[in-house]
Amino acid sequence: MNIKLFKLIDEEDIKNKVKELAEKISSDYSDKELILIGILKGAFVFLSDLIRNLTIPCLCDFIKVSSYGKGTESSGIVKILSDISIDIKDKDILLVEDIVDTGLTLKYLIDHLSLKKPKSIKICALLDKKERHKIEIPIDYLGFTIPNKFVVGYGIDYDEKFRYLPYIGYIELEKS
Ligand code: IMP
Ligand code: MG
Repeated sequence: MNIKLFKLIDEEDIKNKVKELAEKISSDYSDKELILIGILKGAFVFLSDLIRNLTIPCLCDFIKVSSYGKGTESSGIVKILSDISIDIKDKDILLVEDIVDTGLTLKYLIDHLSLKKPKSIKICALLDKKERHKIEIPIDYLGFTIPNKFVVGYGIDYDEKFRYLPYIGYIELEKS
């Protein structure tokens, strides 16, 4: 199998968008107790850029969920591999996700985190494959709507590869 890699969103465009999102979040949460929760592994690069562009204090934690494994199709079954460790009761939560595809992961995590009784839960996602949604989750802060391609880079992987790329690309698998 040959993997062909194409560029989709370049570094400069990501940088500008992250700044824009951080400004909006900083202003919306200026009088709140914000906790960012990054969804691992894919959101680690996005969250680390986002948090450094915020101009308000915040806490941050991570939740690790099962990934696609080697495929490019979601199984729809979400498993929590490692839960958050800070107390979010009565706090304002911003879930930070790399990419929304079917929406099933976010739905599952919102239900899971709601049991811990936060004051609010909102969503910040860098990428959204709108046409693939199986469930409608409002994305409060969105970077880019993208076509139905399998994307990689900027923390996002295919079979654990390509996370290191500073830009967002997409791959096509060719039988060789
Ligand atoms: P959903 O539950 O179908 O919305 O899937 C969301 C998760 O699947 C994201 O957090 C990603 O980790 C992963 N994912 C979805 N689309 C892609 C993709 O194009 N490339 C890599 N991972 C993806
Ligand atoms: Mg993810």
